[in-house]
Amino acid sequence: MTLYETVRPALFALPAETAHNLGKQTMGIAQSSETIRRAIRYGYKFRHPMLEVERFGLTFPTPIGVAAGFDKNGEVMHCLSDLGFGFAEVGTVTPYPQPGNERPRLFRLPEDEAMINRLAFNSQGTDRVRQRMATNGTPPVPVAVNVGKMNTSNESEAIEDYRRVVDRLSEYADYFVLNVSCPNTPEEYDEQSPEHLREIFTTLEAENDEGKPLLVKVGPDSQRGDLDDLVDIVEEFAVDGIVATNTTTDHDDLTGKHRDEWGGVSGTPLESAATATVATLAELTDLPIIGVGGVDDAESAYRKIRAGACLVQAYTGFVYRGPSLAREINEGLVRLLREDGFDTIDDAIGADLD
Ligand SMILES: Cc1cc2nc3c(=O)[nH]c(=O)nc-3n(C[C@H](O)[C@H](O)[C@H](O)COP(=O)(O)O)c2cc1C
Repeated sequence: MTLYETVRPALFALPAETAHNLGKQTMGIAQSSETIRRAIRYGYKFRHPMLEVERFGLTFPTPIGVAAGFDKNGEVMHCLSDLGFGFAEVGTVTPYPQPGNERPRLFRLPEDEAMINRLAFNSQGTDRVRQRMATNGTPPVPVAVNVGKMNTSNESEAIEDYRRVVDRLSEYADYFVLNVSCPNTPEEYDEQSPEHLREIFTTLEAENDEGKPLLVKVGPDSQRGDLDDLVDIVEEFAVDGIVATNTTTDHDDLTGKHRDEWGGVSGTPLESAATATVATLAELTDLPIIGVGGVDDAESAYRKIRAGACLVQAYTGFVYRGPSLAREINEGLVRLLREDGFDTIDDAIGADLD
């Protein structure tokens, strides 16, 4: 039994958001001591040349990263890197601080290896995140900033929100992810409508003096036609890639006692829809795709890669599997690549596509 399996029942006895904050506080303390950091790296960090991926002009030492939402305010990036993740996505960061929805707003469904959340962009805001990144520096792995809008913003105010986050955090982000697919923020208009996306990309292209790569994050519930339209726009604006997917609104197969709580579902029940979205996108475009949704071991990470993802991310799997997740995925991917006769991750990308 691992240490995490021993402490997990105590953590899971706490409300989900309390446990999350406690976990992050522990990581924060750990990353403040160089001795502890060294011990964590020794125990968890696994590197292998077969796992290295080059995309957007950046080197990802391994293809498994932490998905947006885990480290919303850039507090534990260094610890995530020490734990062996190859990249981290901070955020969603909104231009100004906002509290998000009332608690409780995060629920675990252990029977389903899932979570439901309706946090709705609780964020300390751009200035606080910027200050933290300036003080603490960024880790030796690529760091993305996931960009969001204020919940009160209308369609045109949202454009200014995105512009402000990109402007203020350009110095510290290796790339940006535009989040227009959160299912639990108030939606007065269609965030993914072609007209709105065109306006956003026009503004961000003009703003992005440093030429930081920009990706867009999509949901798993989009129809094929919507993905077709999205890919057309993304290619028209030379957007650098797509993150697929955000959480789903589909609660049908859930069995846990919280199944009727409203919010986005993450974890195992999302896996096949997210992988199918990756595969559809990979058929539509050669742009890099970051696959996310239900990744909790090497096999599920590998399924995303074989469906067309060049990088993968996990959030819910990290909650259920604990600090050894990245190491297990990294070690397992080397084994799976060897079993299939591939030399690198690049060789396996899209192997399951016709
Ligand atoms: C509690 C929670 C908060 C999240 N917050 C964000 C967020 O702020 N921005 C975002 O783009 N995605 C957010 N996500 C979605 C994740 O980044 C990811 O797309 C989704 O959870 C699927 O991955 P998973 O099954 O590995 O959790 C959040 C997910 C969870 C569970």
